[in-house]
Amino acid sequence: MTEPVLEVSGLVKHYPLTRGVVFRKQVGAVRAVDGVDFTLGRGETLGIVGESGCGKSTVAKMLVNLERPTAGSIRYKGEDITRLSGRALKAVRRNIQMVFQDPYTSLNPRMTVGDIIGEPYEIHPEAAPKGDRRRRVRELLDVVGLDPEYANRYPHQFSGGQRQRIGIARGLALRPEVIVADEPVSALDVSVQAQVVNLMDRLQSEFGLAYVFIAHDLSIVRHLSDRVGVMYLGRIVETGTDTEIYEHPTHPYTQALLSAVPVPDPRARERRERIILGGDVPSPTDVPSGCRFRTRCWKARERCALEAPALAVPAWFEASGGPAAHDSACHFAEAVPVGRSAPEQVVPVEGHGNGPG
Ligand SMILES: Nc1ncnc2c1ncn2[C@@H]1O[C@H](COP(=O)(O)OP(=O)(O)OP(=O)(O)O)[C@@H](O)[C@H]1O
Ligand code: SF4
Ligand SMILES: [Mg+2]
Repeated sequence: MTEPVLEVSGLVKHYPLTRGVVFRKQVGAVRAVDGVDFTLGRGETLGIVGESGCGKSTVAKMLVNLERPTAGSIRYKGEDITRLSGRALKAVRRNIQMVFQDPYTSLNPRMTVGDIIGEPYEIHPEAAPKGDRRRRVRELLDVVGLDPEYANRYPHQFSGGQRQRIGIARGLALRPEVIVADEPVSALDVSVQAQVVNLMDRLQSEFGLAYVFIAHDLSIVRHLSDRVGVMYLGRIVETGTDTEIYEHPTHPYTQALLSAVPVPDPRARERRERIILGGDVPSPTDVPSGCRFRTRCWKARERCALEAPALAVPAWFEASGGPAAHDSACHFAEAVPVGRSAPEQVVPVEGHGNGPG
């Protein structure tokens, strides 16, 4: 990995769960993010993938300071930004920008495209002298493949793909080093998704950007990602280089997700068995004890309910000289070729019980 720009350690976000309107009483917590660690290298892309509600957006919001973590640290070039405030925080925030999921609702319909793209200069006036902003906005439109003359138009005059280009142009206005893109193509037609991903790819090499690229689906992040983190119920359960994750997944959850990724080659498709997980994702207010995936895991044994597996290189993997940067949070992690790991049955493990998780 290149020199780290972001180092996230023990990141937690719990939302209090309250009852009563007059006498609000805390009765529990939504453990939206429950101990996330990762490192993002300069100019590289980390893909974060997981099902709805696993905490992806909450991680994204903490990275750009839209949410304050309950615990943990986020280091930008060595400095913990969760401890900064005032001017120091503002200076760091310039370098970490966000691109949102829905280009239909994230752009203010009453503002011109030029004002939307130039809005970050209102918040950070030091970034560009007033007289230079119009020129910069036109340049940004050009950089994302739109006609600079569009600056006077309004968002409704654009297609979804074009609006996402506008969102990306705004994200670039302050020349950040890191862009956190929360499902930037999920709301777009499949035919347009590739164009936006290709644009992000080009911008990355042009400006040396590092991306945290969030998606539901492993197939979308593959093209861009150098490394991938797979999230389940508030935690990263497996992380490694894209080749390791896509070709030698060791966590049962990643194996199940990959078995659902479409394969264009019909012969490969025939050979592949789909892993269908039983049950639903447990609620983040009632996280299973031990391994949080155990209620849906076909390999679950007694130990899984008693002991939470750490995200680490499996011992056998290390002994066999496997890559050191492929971590899996599973007591029984094993590399199985994708499609050969179908469970004979899905064994439900009874009862959740809040354990140390
Ligand atoms: N402000 C909040 N108060 C209480 N619970 C919240 C809040 N924001 C998010 N949550 C809960 O935290 C969990 C994680 O939400 P989050 O939006 O991060 O998931 P996600 O992975 O981005 O999902 P999706 O793929 O649907 O966007 C969910 O159970 C959600 O309901
Ligand atoms: S620790 Fe146990 S329950 Fe969790 S993924 Fe591994 S085998 Fe499944
Ligand atoms: Mg989300």
